[in-house]
Amino acid sequence: MKRKVLKLFYAASFTMLAVILVSCNSGNTTKKGSKLLAYDAQIDTIIAQMTLEEKIAMLHGKHMFTSAGIERFGIADMVYADGPFGIREEMEPHSWRSLQLATDSATFFPTGSALAATWSEEMAYKYGTGMAREARLRGKDMILGPAINIQRIPTGGRTYEYLSEDPFLSARLSVGYTKGVQDNGVAVCLKHYALNNQENNRGRVNVLVSPRTMREIYLPPFQAAVEEADAYGVMAAYNKVNGYWCSENDMLQNKILRDEWGFAGMIISDWGGVHSTVAAALNGLDVEMPGQRYFGQALIDSVNSGAVPVSVIDAKVRNILRVRLAIEPVPANEANKIMTAQPEQAQIAYEVASKSIVLLKNDEAVLPIDLNKNKNIVIIGDNAIRTMALGGVGAGVKALYEITPLEGLKNRIGNKANIEFIEGYVKPKFVWGQFKSPYTDPDPELLAAAVDAAKKADLVIFMAGNNREVETEGSDRFSIELPYGQDSLIAAIAAVNPNIATVVVAGAPVDLRVVNSNSKALVYAWFNGTEGGNALADILLGNISPSGKLPYTLPIKLEDSPAYAMGNYPQTDSPISEDIFVALVDEHKAESLKEDKSNKDIAIYSEEMLVGYRWFDTKGEAVMYPFGHGLSYTQFDYKNLKTNKQTYKENESIKVSVDVSNTGSHNADEVIQLYVRRINAKVEWPLKELKAFERVSINAGETKTVELNFDVKNLRYWDEESYDWLLENGEIELMVGSSSSNILLTQKVNI
Ligand code: GLC
Repeated sequence: MKRKVLKLFYAASFTMLAVILVSCNSGNTTKKGSKLLAYDAQIDTIIAQMTLEEKIAMLHGKHMFTSAGIERFGIADMVYADGPFGIREEMEPHSWRSLQLATDSATFFPTGSALAATWSEEMAYKYGTGMAREARLRGKDMILGPAINIQRIPTGGRTYEYLSEDPFLSARLSVGYTKGVQDNGVAVCLKHYALNNQENNRGRVNVLVSPRTMREIYLPPFQAAVEEADAYGVMAAYNKVNGYWCSENDMLQNKILRDEWGFAGMIISDWGGVHSTVAAALNGLDVEMPGQRYFGQALIDSVNSGAVPVSVIDAKVRNILRVRLAIEPVPANEANKIMTAQPEQAQIAYEVASKSIVLLKNDEAVLPIDLNKNKNIVIIGDNAIRTMALGGVGAGVKALYEITPLEGLKNRIGNKANIEFIEGYVKPKFVWGQFKSPYTDPDPELLAAAVDAAKKADLVIFMAGNNREVETEGSDRFSIELPYGQDSLIAAIAAVNPNIATVVVAGAPVDLRVVNSNSKALVYAWFNGTEGGNALADILLGNISPSGKLPYTLPIKLEDSPAYAMGNYPQTDSPISEDIFVALVDEHKAESLKEDKSNKDIAIYSEEMLVGYRWFDTKGEAVMYPFGHGLSYTQFDYKNLKTNKQTYKENESIKVSVDVSNTGSHNADEVIQLYVRRINAKVEWPLKELKAFERVSINAGETKTVELNFDVKNLRYWDEESYDWLLENGEIELMVGSSSSNILLTQKVNI
């Protein structure tokens, strides 16, 4: 009760900040009741007239991506579509085979880590808007996204799909994406709730995590999207958390998500991720997808036997009907009538891509490319021609088109210079179920041809990185080295021509030691969507300045990363079993998802809060490139750090302003970051944590005053004794800079 009163107090006393100059990405959460509650009276009337069979029919898959409505009352089915980086093509109702429609080619948006590299809630909102518009053209009610799990391990198969290693950055983008989608008439489905931070054995792994670490590192993106953006859907993850499957986890689904955060929408399982009838029903799951093994006849029997009260079923029906009544169904005869991919969305994809690209280094100002000096350019590497919309396991996008790096450069360079493409390395053909390690030596002939071409070039653009088979759902990489012998290849090229600009096309961290020492310029260009090649060319040629910032740490070597250094990943004591999703999708194995009782997969998150930069900063360990790092073609000067007060109370906001000047000759965006360091704290903290950031556009010669406001309550810690958020009073240091390791101004205040 005390907590409830406190929360009411916060809600009442919280006032929206009128920010003078620039809106702030501060995570100011105002928790209001969900819009979905407005439908409850209407829903009472509907439920009172429903049969048990009609109720249960709503609680499981009707088709692969549909769950039932109530035909008798004209209430439409719920229609789902993967996301999170484009609306997935139409498939047959009961299989994973494509329907091969002519109109379901969609916009391939930059994937999660690229969106995160924009450090822009505004971009995330536009992204969600674009996703919703194309979902509506396809008759979808709920997008299965955003995918917002924290990138705990650099090898995570879905790191490309997720956002960041930092909970605050992930939370801000989750809010923007959710608002963008739901303001445009579609529901989101936050996934995968929760702690699905690895793909190896994701269907069996039991994550053991402390309550404080769970609350402060892994749950914030979900909490923010629910409390601030009123997310309508949540997808229960495949894994266990502290001993309980997510799809039957009372703590996660009932106590935290619904009771504490006020979530009023519907919880669906991941595909094939349900493990019981009664436990899943009593502990919060609303819809089993895509089948009805547990929430079909078995659930009817469980109700009739008294094991599951009808009131529990009614609550599930209510959750679904709230979303159903909030989202206007698209009549079947209006869906898929025009091409999904529309130019407005391609423009959004371009804008996100152009703000995501990170300039890691730029010795001798090799970039932007001077076409007067570089008349012969050779582009080496399969990633110059590789499309990234599809590949590997799981969600992808049948893109209407995808501009590759080579196409983008040809589009922008035209006849102003001679471009030669050399393969350098080749991506082997992907054969379903036949895993072949991509970590091989270079092909001698391809290497010789590349060296030969490099000798004659003024500039080499080396297209390095991964692809959608190397980084894939269903399995984690076992290395972060560059595949197909790229390291040996670039060393051989650099021996004959040191004038190299390397572009890394990847979604996750890679080992940069060799390419970094052999390249004058180094760029991270992500799996960057339909317009990625054009955006990359505009950056390389200086049409726009790079402004992306790393959403995660790039370690010097994999063993330095916390989970590896702590020895708690991979769980080597158990074989990597058949991936739960692959088994479901592969028709030869779909007959059953065997419950392996010998589950030895325990993932002990023993690094606790020290995920990503929190680890490296606190341990004082060197990294290749730090969280938040990204260079520009101009220079920025930070001065006049000011705060509105010296001492703050718990229910106040800390208002910080800093003057940022563009002292160079290139108009550009900058992302100003604010971290907080605790001084002489009694509670254990990471060295510093991101608490606010702001992306601003500043023309050459211009100065802007940037505000970075955040609530004192965002400085609380989860106290495991009192099972509540507490504030540790004392001195803190505000650290403002252009990356987590380039702190330019500091000021101490008291809370
Ligand atoms: C997959 C993924 C999930 C996806 C679902 C439907 O297993 O884990 O992200 O939305 O199945 O494709």
